[in-house]
Amino acid sequence: MTPSERNAAADPGPDIDTVRTVDDLRARVSAWRRAGETVGLVPTMGALHEGHLSLIRCSRALATRTCVTVFVNPTQFGPNEDFTTYPRDEARDVALLAAAGVDLVFAPDAAEIYPAGFETSVDVGPIASPLEGAARPGHFRGVATVVLKLLNLVQPTRSYFGRKDAQQLAVIRKLVADLDLPVEIVACEIVREPDGLALSSRNVYLSTAERKAAVVLWEALSLARDMWTKSTRDAEAYRRRLGELIAAQPLARADYVSVADPRTLRELERIQGPALVSLAVWIGKTRLIDNLTLGE
Ligand code: PAJ
Repeated sequence: MTPSERNAAADPGPDIDTVRTVDDLRARVSAWRRAGETVGLVPTMGALHEGHLSLIRCSRALATRTCVTVFVNPTQFGPNEDFTTYPRDEARDVALLAAAGVDLVFAPDAAEIYPAGFETSVDVGPIASPLEGAARPGHFRGVATVVLKLLNLVQPTRSYFGRKDAQQLAVIRKLVADLDLPVEIVACEIVREPDGLALSSRNVYLSTAERKAAVVLWEALSLARDMWTKSTRDAEAYRRRLGELIAAQPLARADYVSVADPRTLRELERIQGPALVSLAVWIGKTRLIDNLTLGE
């Protein structure tokens, strides 16, 4: 069956499988591989929204089987971060995944992924140091380690990640290149609300006033796009003007405004090739990130 025939024949709901153990997951995906199916993997932490569903649509267009993992990975949260309060609603997530035509959901407990005695971690080097890595020490070690485990367990043909988390995508590409992992990483575009706010599982933390204020991230990225169109090439001018725009919103506080080389994430002085403009902004107690690539 081709991917599009499978999509047409999808019978959402009753026949979605949720597995919780590594052994069950391995058994299911290895049967697919023996049958010559192409497997797409979409790793998530649940609290699903249209951004996640867009990744699943990408996978279903290219693969005959799509596996989604729903796992709030404790090792990528810092001690004072929102691991315990991170939104969790497995029944809702599974219903959305069934309706989206997903074949298999892997929703393990932390002890299944990190059994007693687990000690290995993956450090991808300098690309994980600035930006999110600086603000959230150890975050990308947790991400790289869990993603490597999921890739090893599922051994997909392709795995799908959103550009919303641009540094995470760069870290995973580096992991795959450096460790020769036999998987193609597919980057999917950022899905936004009509007013430009990027969808995020953390948007549910925002009060009504904060939700309105949160559009400042998109306003800042739009300013960057205007500056690019008007031929501004001095990267510091972007950092300054976007910072000023964010500072003018009383409910917002910029954590960083970065204009960096998209491959190395090193800050630029002048924009000569593609430039990744990325932001982390506190809106009240909620930290939101967003980005845009100029000159692609
Ligand atoms: P999570 O935040 O649930 O995101 C899962 C995937 O959805 C990521 O690849 C993320 O970039 C993508 N995504 C989130 N919001 C998006 C949006 N508005 N548009 C497009 N894609 C979007 O990222 C993680 O989980 C975790 O770090 C994980 C990779 C699962 C490892 O634990």
